[in-house]
Amino acid sequence: MNIITCIAPVNIAVIKYWGKRDEKLILPLNDSVSATLSIKEMHAKTTVMASPNFKEDKIWLNGKEETFQNQRLQSCLQEIRRRAKQKADNKGDSISNWSIHVCSENNFPTAAGLASSAAGYACLVFALAQLYDVSGDISGIARQGSGSACRSLYGGFVRWHQGSALDGSDSIATQVAPESHWPEMRILVLVVSDKRKKVSSSAGMQNSVNTSELLKYRVSHCVPQRTEAIVKAIINKDFDTFADITMKDSNQFHAVCLDTFPPNVYMNDTSHAIVNLIHSYNTASEKNKVTYTFDAGPNACLYLLQSEVPKLLAVLNHIFPAGNESVEYLQGIPVEKQAVSQEFIAAIGMQPQEPGLLKYMIHTEVGVGPQVLNEPRHHLLTDAGFPK
Ligand code: DP6
Repeated sequence: MNIITCIAPVNIAVIKYWGKRDEKLILPLNDSVSATLSIKEMHAKTTVMASPNFKEDKIWLNGKEETFQNQRLQSCLQEIRRRAKQKADNKGDSISNWSIHVCSENNFPTAAGLASSAAGYACLVFALAQLYDVSGDISGIARQGSGSACRSLYGGFVRWHQGSALDGSDSIATQVAPESHWPEMRILVLVVSDKRKKVSSSAGMQNSVNTSELLKYRVSHCVPQRTEAIVKAIINKDFDTFADITMKDSNQFHAVCLDTFPPNVYMNDTSHAIVNLIHSYNTASEKNKVTYTFDAGPNACLYLLQSEVPKLLAVLNHIFPAGNESVEYLQGIPVEKQAVSQEFIAAIGMQPQEPGLLKYMIHTEVGVGPQVLNEPRHHLLTDAGFPK
């Protein structure tokens, strides 16, 4: 088979990766930890095809042809071809001399500002590894496409080890616990309305490395301890500690962004209102019931246990009423409606906000790593190798 189609998941970090020690190899300044989100709700889908008839490598992303002359794409492709050629059986060898066509799309809007490059590069590298029959760790290859992509190669809870080797060979992702380990864990992505043009993660973190003193302190004094503690909390299914560390690490990451000069402002007023709500919710519950984390954008990612979802949704619907747009407000895993008591709403002590501050919410869970789709109908390329 010279054509393969795969899907790969999004991951959301609870210990953030922010800052590189090597820009080309994409080596991070610190370890990071994430959960892989279910492929059912959100995924990247990629078809790769090799043929002696293709004149050059070509790639189409979300319906548009893009150039393959991009350092990150080239790093991934060259590395996987090098690994294919090392193989004894030679299957990979012959195909790896042919040009390839790649077609990739996300099943969620890229405009939502969700981690699309992580799923995209994980999917590309996983699909190429299938095509060329490359085995062994490939997270170190996906890392060279986009750092956070290395974590999307595994399901469950994942740790990206910063490593110490100059060539990056030990900067790889490993699984902390499989998706079956903590089956009650749920994720609610709150897609926040926002029109500002943001600084990309890559440019933003480079600026932080160059200008933020707080980043140095974070890397040396905070992340190592937090990483060990959150891994332990995941293994022990200790939600309270997991929640505590997740919120603190998100806040510190955004503090580093503000300590960057000029500052990177990723969260907006709605993001901060969500933070206030979650703290009030936890105080009113007398326990950490929900935790938040924000990437390089205004969207919130909430982690909570299944039993808490109906109550939190009732509160969210009350405080952040839907706008009158035609999009479904709650997407993903369906939830049975539950009313929330007036006492609890009063204990939260927050007034309902104007409708439409949130575009929509995606309810999902922790899921598996990349998958191969075997049926030909899934291919995004025709037999001749062009987008369907
Ligand atoms: C805030 O992986 O997108 O989401 O390696 O430059 O491609 P590059 O950056 P990227 O950065 C992700 C940053 C983050 C935190 C995280 O996912 O750990």
